[in-house]
Amino acid sequence: MRIVAAAGELRDALAPARREARTIGLVPTMGALHEGHSSLLRAASAECDVAVMSLFVNPAQFGPGEDLARYPRDRERDAALAADAGVDLVYAPAAEEVYPAGFSTTVEVGGLTDVLCGDPNRRGRGHFRGVTTIVAKLLNLVEPDVAYFGQKDAQQAVVIKRMATDLDYGARIAVLPTVREPDGLAMSSRNAYLTPADRRRAPALHRALRAAADVAVPGAAARDALAAARAELSGAGIEPEYLEARDAEDLSPVEAFNGRPALIALAARLGDARLIDNVVVGATTDPGGQENR
Ligand code: PAJ
Repeated sequence: MRIVAAAGELRDALAPARREARTIGLVPTMGALHEGHSSLLRAASAECDVAVMSLFVNPAQFGPGEDLARYPRDRERDAALAADAGVDLVYAPAAEEVYPAGFSTTVEVGGLTDVLCGDPNRRGRGHFRGVTTIVAKLLNLVEPDVAYFGQKDAQQAVVIKRMATDLDYGARIAVLPTVREPDGLAMSSRNAYLTPADRRRAPALHRALRAAADVAVPGAAARDALAAARAELSGAGIEPEYLEARDAEDLSPVEAFNGRPALIALAARLGDARLIDNVVVGATTDPGGQENR
């Protein structure tokens, strides 16, 4: 496995693969790798001739009060896990390489970024602008055949699919199922911020989503499903930042389940950790074509 830090080196390293028409898979990450990341890396390595991972804690997607400075960073451990998962090439640039002096261009997806995590009263769409700008740059640099994302960040995946369609990226956007701890907690680099007591409460997020999913049969009202989730959360003393049912593809609000895939998504703050999770109901497969429960 090779690690490069400059865009020029990355292009040079990929040139032979491109000449020989070998397929390239890209997995964008911010490091602090866990089994959720590894599942994407293994898929890229299994499905593509060359597996590329980017490792960059992207300042542009962190808000002023967010956790950029303390975001967990461990290059050596990440490199070892990436190599284990079959990654061929790691692109780990410095911030000045990605955003040199004078950098002025952003990529913004409208509409889809105004809701859930992008609601102006929450993180705001600046977060997604940071995500789409970096992912656009990575897609341009790597020109992958497939780019892999996790269903854990459902809204991010929807927004990136929209961007890839709108801007004519050739890459297929693959969305893989959420990997969970044995007690149901979705794996996240931010779980490291949980105190032991909050870690014990945290599985209530997934229990709440499952309770909602049990109610969300075709014909059921979204508010009944969300009430079931809310009851589970309040049992654990958790007040969600949001808890909503939305169309899994266009994120429009869902009032009643009708057999179309619906996303039940939540965000909650447990101490210093802001956690998100979701389930998709009304589909035998999730939008990425994988089982999702
Ligand atoms: P990061 O949080 O490091 O996540 C990298 C990828 O791993 C994302 O596609 C995310 O959805 C996926 N992922 C995280 N936890 C997962 C889990 N438990 N199961 C399955 N997949 C999981 O998301 C980002 O970084 C950034 O926004 C990025 C896309 C790299 C742009 O900076």
